[in-house]
Amino acid sequence: MNSNNSNVKKWSVSSRIFHWISAILLLVTWTMMFLYNNSDSNLYIGLHKAFGVSLLFWMIARVINRLLTKAPPPVPMPKWQLLMSQLSHFALYALLIAMPIAGLLMSVYGGRPVDIFGLFQIPVFVNPDRSLARFYNDLHTDIIWPMIIAFTLVHIGAALHHQFIKKDGLIARMK
Ligand code: HEM
Ligand code: HEM
Repeated sequence: MNSNNSNVKKWSVSSRIFHWISAILLLVTWTMMFLYNNSDSNLYIGLHKAFGVSLLFWMIARVINRLLTKAPPPVPMPKWQLLMSQLSHFALYALLIAMPIAGLLMSVYGGRPVDIFGLFQIPVFVNPDRSLARFYNDLHTDIIWPMIIAFTLVHIGAALHHQFIKKDGLIARMK
C-alpha cells in the first residue's frame, strides 16, 4: 500500500537539514585528520578540532530539534528491524556527541586550549593530567571511532537495502 514513493511521509525540513549537515561535518572532520596525518602542516589538526567542536554544538541542537519536532511514522518493516534501527540511530547520536567530547577532554587534559576558527578559544578548564589525556586519546581513537565507522556502515547499508531491495522510498523521507 505504502510502496508509492510519492506519498511517503517525510522528515521535517529541520530534521533533514540536521541529518545531512551532521554527515558533512563528520566527513570534513575526518578529512582534516586525514590531511593532518598526510602532511607536515599543523593547520589541519586545528581545523580537525574546530570542525569536531562544531559537530558537537550541531548535535546538541539536533537533539533539541528531535525532541521538539515529530518523527514520521516508520515505514512498514518487521518488529526486530524497527528495534534495530531505533537502537542504531540512538547509538549514532550518542557516538557523535561522545566523540568530540573525548577529543576536547584529550586536548584540555593535555594542557592545550582549543581554538575555534580564530573566533574564540575553549580554555584549559581542567587540571592537565597526562594519564587522563592518554585515556581520552585512546577512547577517541581506538574505541569510539571504530564504533562510528561500524554503525555508519550498517546505517548506509540499511538505507541502500531499503532503496534497492525493498524499494520502499525510505531515503526519500530524509532527502
Ligand atoms: C565527531 C568529531 C570527531 C571525529 C570524527 C574525530 C576523529 C578522529 C580520528 C579518526 C582520529 C584518529 C586519527 C588517527 O590516528 O588515525 C582523531 C585524532 C585526534 N582528534 Fe579527533 N575527532 C573528532 C573531534 C575532535 C575534537 C573536538 C578534538 C579536540 C578538540 C579532537 C582532537 C583530536 C586530536 C588531538 C587527535 C590526534 C591524536 C593523536 O595524534 O594521537 N578531535 N580524531
Ligand atoms: C549516504 C549516507 C546516508 C544515508 C543515505 C542516510 C539515510 C538516512 C535515512 C533514510 C534516515 C531516515 C530513516 C527513517 O526514515 O526511519 C536516516 C536517519 C538517521 N541517520 Fe542517516 N544517512 C546517511 C548518513 C548518515 C551518517 C553519516 C550519520 C551519522 C554518523 C547518520 C545518522 C542518522 C541518524 C542518527 C538518523 C536517525 C534520525 C532521527 O531519528 O532523528 N546518517 N538516515
